[in-house]
Amino acid sequence: MLQVNHLCTSFFTDKGEVRAVDDVSLEVPAGKIVGIVGESGCGKSMTARSVMGLVRAPGKIKSGEILLDGRDIVRLSEHERCAIRGSEISMIFQEPMTSLNPVVRVGHQVEEALLLHEHVKKQEAEARAVEIFEAVGIPDAKKRLRSYPHQLSGGLRQRVLIAMAMICRPKLLIADEPTTALDVTVEAQILRLMKKLCGSGTSILLISHNLGVIAQVCDYVYVMYAGRIVEQADTFTLFDNPCHPYTKGLLDSVSSLRSGAQVLDTIPGVVPNLLHLPAGCSFSMRCGCCMEKCADLLPELHETEPGHRVRCHLFDKEEPA
Ligand SMILES: Nc1ncnc2c1ncn2[C@@H]1O[C@H](COP(=O)(O)OP(=O)(O)OP(=O)(O)O)[C@@H](O)[C@H]1O
Ligand SMILES: [Mg+2]
Repeated sequence: MLQVNHLCTSFFTDKGEVRAVDDVSLEVPAGKIVGIVGESGCGKSMTARSVMGLVRAPGKIKSGEILLDGRDIVRLSEHERCAIRGSEISMIFQEPMTSLNPVVRVGHQVEEALLLHEHVKKQEAEARAVEIFEAVGIPDAKKRLRSYPHQLSGGLRQRVLIAMAMICRPKLLIADEPTTALDVTVEAQILRLMKKLCGSGTSILLISHNLGVIAQVCDYVYVMYAGRIVEQADTFTLFDNPCHPYTKGLLDSVSSLRSGAQVLDTIPGVVPNLLHLPAGCSFSMRCGCCMEKCADLLPELHETEPGHRVRCHLFDKEEPA
């Protein structure tokens, strides 16, 4: 369904080039949920915005292909992109407060996509809006269509955004931290809804920093660090046999919480400034397994077993550690 090949997206700032997405390749098969996980600032949202064609200056897609059903959408005109945005690909944005128009009733905002892309009559649009509101668990759906965003709680607003993204039954839904602002019960409901949606043929690219969310719904996972994919595998393999020290660190911080540890066993340090990345592995400064070559030589994504790739010198084929 979606195939991203060697995508590079950078911001050209006064201080230099910020490589927000650096040589990212990923695949979302039809009817599957694929997760991107990683710490804040590692390029998850920029990868999503690149696929949507919504990278704003000073950002720019420098190179790479984004194939939707085999068609390279990087090379489409803005007019052609507009036609697929909302109907073929849609996105739930990370910032629920800024994605709704405060002075337009939410029902109208949800119906707008249908009126624009499917040219249905107003009455049918309203019926479909009620249906999708019920599906995402908005109580009193008919009445809620007439609400303004400020009259809804944060959780309800987020569900309106999900309804908006789903109403045209897109082939690909990109969900950027769709449940981060919600409590666990609502989160579980939304995740179930995504599963159901994907059962009916929609492919989903789910972005989250929460490994629990990823484990619950994703078929495949990509771990991102400082703009690059550092590990990828099917979900079971990734959780069963994580290889990259960064992935292990992420998992350890979850399991230490589970076992009731008082101190969170997090990874020391912070994500490096993307303006000043080391020539080698960008995780080397924080890595407990750092070797001499790690700071200078960028590791390739090696396949350690079919479908499982790791960007780490520990897995170099010629020189196993
Ligand atoms: N307008 C901008 N100008 C310069 N750099 C930017 C700009 N917007 C984003 N970036 C850079 O792009 C990098 C990736 O940002 P992105 O929003 O994709 O991170 P993220 O993984 O989605 O993080 P979060 O989990 O906080 O949402 C950031 O580290 C930031 O430095
Ligand atoms: Mg983000």
